[in-house]
Amino acid sequence: MSLYPPLLSLFLLISSTVSATAAATAAVSPVSSPSASPTPKLPSPSPISTSTLDPEQRTALDSLNIPTPKDPCSPQPHLSFAATCDSSSPYRHILSLSLFNCSDDVALSSTALKSLSTVTSLSFLNCPIPVIRLPTEFALNLRSFTCINSLKKLTGVWLSRLENVTELTVSKAIVTASGPSIILNNMRFLHSVTLSHANLSGFLPKHWHPNLTFVDLSANSLKGEIPLSLTRLENLVHLNLSSNSLDDTLPSTIGDLSALQNLSLGSNSLSGPIPQSLAELSGLMHLDLGSNQLNGTIPNFIRDMKSLKYLNLERNNFHGVLPFNATFIQKLEELKVGENSNLCYNHTTLGSKLKLGIAPCDKHGLPVSPPPAKDSSDDSSDNSDESDYSDVEDKKHHHGPSKIVLGVAIGLSSIVFLIVFLILLSRCCK
Ligand SMILES: *[C@@H]1O[C@H](CO)[C@@H](O)[C@H](O)[C@H]1NC(C)=O
Ligand SMILES: *[C@@H]1O[C@H](CO)[C@@H](O)[C@H](O)[C@H]1NC(C)=O
Ligand SMILES: *[C@@H]1O[C@H](CO)[C@@H](O)[C@H](O)[C@H]1NC(C)=O
Ligand SMILES: *[C@@H]1O[C@H](CO)[C@@H](O)[C@H](O)[C@H]1NC(C)=O
Ligand SMILES: *[C@@H]1O[C@H](CO)[C@@H](O)[C@H](O)[C@H]1NC(C)=O
Ligand SMILES: *[C@@H]1O[C@H](CO)[C@@H](O)[C@H](O)[C@H]1NC(C)=O
Ligand SMILES: *[C@@H]1O[C@H](CO)[C@@H](O)[C@H](O)[C@H]1NC(C)=O
Ligand SMILES: *[C@@H]1O[C@H](CO)[C@@H](O)[C@H](O)[C@H]1NC(C)=O
Ligand SMILES: *[C@@H]1O[C@H](CO)[C@@H](O)[C@H](O)[C@H]1NC(C)=O
Repeated sequence: MSLYPPLLSLFLLISSTVSATAAATAAVSPVSSPSASPTPKLPSPSPISTSTLDPEQRTALDSLNIPTPKDPCSPQPHLSFAATCDSSSPYRHILSLSLFNCSDDVALSSTALKSLSTVTSLSFLNCPIPVIRLPTEFALNLRSFTCINSLKKLTGVWLSRLENVTELTVSKAIVTASGPSIILNNMRFLHSVTLSHANLSGFLPKHWHPNLTFVDLSANSLKGEIPLSLTRLENLVHLNLSSNSLDDTLPSTIGDLSALQNLSLGSNSLSGPIPQSLAELSGLMHLDLGSNQLNGTIPNFIRDMKSLKYLNLERNNFHGVLPFNATFIQKLEELKVGENSNLCYNHTTLGSKLKLGIAPCDKHGLPVSPPPAKDSSDDSSDNSDESDYSDVEDKKHHHGPSKIVLGVAIGLSSIVFLIVFLILLSRCCK
C-alpha cells in the first residue's frame, strides 16, 4: 500500500509536464503565424529596380491602409499582400492584387480602385472586410475574381457586375441572391466558376456558357432538377453540385458531357436509376453519387470505366449483385457502397477479405439475412460468410485501433514495472 503515494506523484509529475508542454506550444503558435500587424518586417530593400510603380497607383495602394512593401511589384511572401505588375516604362502598373488575412483597418475606397483599373486579377483570402461598390471601369477590367472566406454583405447583383471575368471563385462567403442565374447570366467569357459554401438558394441556371470547363456550386441550398441544358457543356471537365437539395432523376443526356473527369452529385435528393448514357463518360475519374435516393441495379458498364479512381454509391437504394470483381476494386483508390440495404456482393468472386459494408448474396442474388446477434464463436475463420457482414467501409482500415490500444497497454505496464523496480531498488540499497 505504501507503494501508491510515490507512484501517484510520479504520474502527476508526468501529466503536469505534458500539459505544460502543450500550453507552451499553444502560446507559441499564434506568434509564429503571420498576422496583419501594422509593422511588418520588410526584407532588405532592393534599390536597383528597372522602373517604379506608377505614382498614382502607389498613392492608391497607400490609401488602402494595408502594410504594402516599398516595391509592391517584387514578390513579398511574408506580407498579407501580393501583387504582380507589367513591365511598362517609365512606370509599371499593377496587374494582379491579392489580400490575405486582412485586419479590420483595411480601407478599400472607390477612388483608390479607380486608379487601380489596370488590375485584371483580384483575390481576397480570409479578408472579412465590408464590400464596397467597384468603379465600373475596374469591374469590367477584371478577368479573375477570387473571394474565399472574405467580404461581408456580398450580393448577387454586386458579383454580376464582373461581366468580363473568365474565372469566378467565391467560397465560404455568404452571397445574398435569388439564385446563381443572376450572378452568371451576363458573364459571357466565363470558363471556370466556383460558388460554394455560399448559402445560395433557388434553382440551377437554364442557360450556361458553352466554354465552361469547371463548375462547382456545391454546399448551397439549390433545389429543383439538374437541367438538360447543363449536359450540353461539351468542354466541362469538372462538375460539383454536391450538398444541395437537388431532386428528380439524373438527366438521361448526362453522357453528352464528353470531357467530364469529375462528377460530384452526392448529398442531394436525386432519385431513379443511373442512366445508361453515363457509360459514355469514358474519362471519368471521380464519381460521387452517394447519399441520394437512387435505385435500380448498379450498371455493369461502371467496371469498364478505365480511368475511375474514386467511386461513391453509398447511402442509396440500389439493389442486386455488385457487378465488380476484386481486380476492379483493387484498382480504385476509394470505393463506397455501404448503406444500400438490398445490395450484396458475390462471395464466390470477391471472397470475404473486402470490407464493403454490404452483405454477401445468397444464390438468388439477394443479401443473406444479417447473422443472429449472439452467435460469435470464431470470427477469425475466413470461411464464414457472416464474419464479413460488417459496416467497416474502408478496406485499408483494419485492426488499427486495437493495435494502438495494445501499444498503449504495453507502454503503460512497462512504466509501472519500471517504477516498482526503482522503488524496490531504492529500498533494498538504502
Ligand atoms: C493567413 O493565416 C493563416 C492562419 O492564420 C496562415 O496559415 C496563412 O499562411 C496566412 N496566409 C498568408 C498569406 O499570410
Ligand atoms: C468588357 O465587357 C464590356 C461589355 O460587357 C465590353 O464593352 C468591354 O469592352 C469589355 N472590357 C474589356 C476591357 O475587355
Ligand atoms: C441563408 O439563406 C436563407 C434564405 O435562403 C436565409 O434565411 C438565411 O438567413 C441565410 N443565412 C445567412 C447566414 O445569411
Ligand atoms: C469559346 O472559346 C473559343 C475558343 O477558345 C472561342 O473562339 C469562342 O469565341 C468562345 N465562345 C464564347 C461564347 O466565348
Ligand atoms: C465537391 O464539393 C464538396 C463540398 O464543397 C467537396 O467536399 C468535394 O471534395 C468536391 N468534390 C470534388 C471532386 O472536388
Ligand atoms: C478529380 O478526381 C480525382 C480522383 O478522385 C482527384 O484526385 C482530383 O483531385 C479531382 N479534381 C478536382 C479538381 O477536384
Ligand atoms: C425507383 O424509385 C422510383 C420512385 O422514386 C420508383 O417509381 C421506381 O419503381 C423505383 N425503381 C426500382 C427499380 O425500384
Ligand atoms: C475483372 O473485371 C474487369 C473489368 O472491370 C475485367 O477486365 C477483368 O477481366 C476481370 N478479371 C477477372 C479475373 O475476372
Ligand atoms: C457468383 O459468381 C459465380 C462465379 O462467377 C457464379 O457462378 C454465380 O452465379 C454468382 N452468384 C450470383 C448470386 O450472382
